[in-house]
Amino acid sequence: MPDHFTFAGYRDVPDEAGGAAARAWWDAEAPEYLAEHGAFLGDADFVWGPEGLREEDAHLLGDVVGRDVLEVGAGSAQCSRWLVAAGARALATDVSHGMLAQGDRLDRATGVRVPLVQADARALPFADASFDAVFTAFGAIPFLPDATRVHREAARVLRPGGRWVFSVTHPLRWAFPDDPTEHGLTATRSYFDRRPYVETTDDGRVLYAEYHRTVGDHVRDVVAAGLVLDDVVEPEWPADNANVWGGWGPVRGAYLPGTAVFVTHRP
Ligand SMILES: C[S@@+](CC[C@H](N)C(=O)[O-])C[C@H]1O[C@@H](n2cnc3c(N)ncnc32)[C@H](O)[C@@H]1O
Repeated sequence: MPDHFTFAGYRDVPDEAGGAAARAWWDAEAPEYLAEHGAFLGDADFVWGPEGLREEDAHLLGDVVGRDVLEVGAGSAQCSRWLVAAGARALATDVSHGMLAQGDRLDRATGVRVPLVQADARALPFADASFDAVFTAFGAIPFLPDATRVHREAARVLRPGGRWVFSVTHPLRWAFPDDPTEHGLTATRSYFDRRPYVETTDDGRVLYAEYHRTVGDHVRDVVAAGLVLDDVVEPEWPADNANVWGGWGPVRGAYLPGTAVFVTHRP
């Protein structure tokens, strides 16, 4: 019998349990997640979020040709596959073996091979100063109570001048119901309520946890890791994007930002 949650909502849980929940959750959900979102993500494409902002157009990682680029929380490594095709030496990591297994399947389907390494973004198995850029598109950070560790690891493995770029759900979204219709346009929670969204079993086991940080929290986290913040990109919803992804879609996209991309570098 698969585990089933009996509570879903905003509630504090022990940090260790919250941070550990992602691995089993993504292992179990990987096939369904790819079936639902794989076409939008593309097998070898690099989108920063549901708005469809592409690295090909945004160039947030800078020049990648011939560069060593690390993806953390890579899921099935679609972004890294695009980077390899674009001439980068990309390497993809994720804590979930299930997501990486889907990545291996996509490698074989596309013929574009990306080295895949199972690793928690809080403890990367790489030497200091070994990458020119590190990034994640919605990986790792939202699922961790201690995301500062990810920022510190990104700073550690980056060469001086290298960029650390990460996208997350736009913090403003946390004040609104996760509903892509007009019902998602009225704020019902405090933007300042940092309790995570969790799903737990009867006996209190944490099956899923997602953490909210305000814009200021994210800024303080990257600065504390010794990084310099260069930009916060807030993609607008394009008129030709009819795709609905969870609470994201054109109805709310017309009024509210859905994604924030933080662009930082190691001095
Ligand atoms: C929404 S997916 C993002 C990946 C990819 N960009 C995509 O859209 O499919 C979130 C990913 O973060 C990974 N993740 C969660 N916690 C992590 C951690 N502590 N370290 C590394 N990856 C983690 C999950 O396993 C999952 O593959």
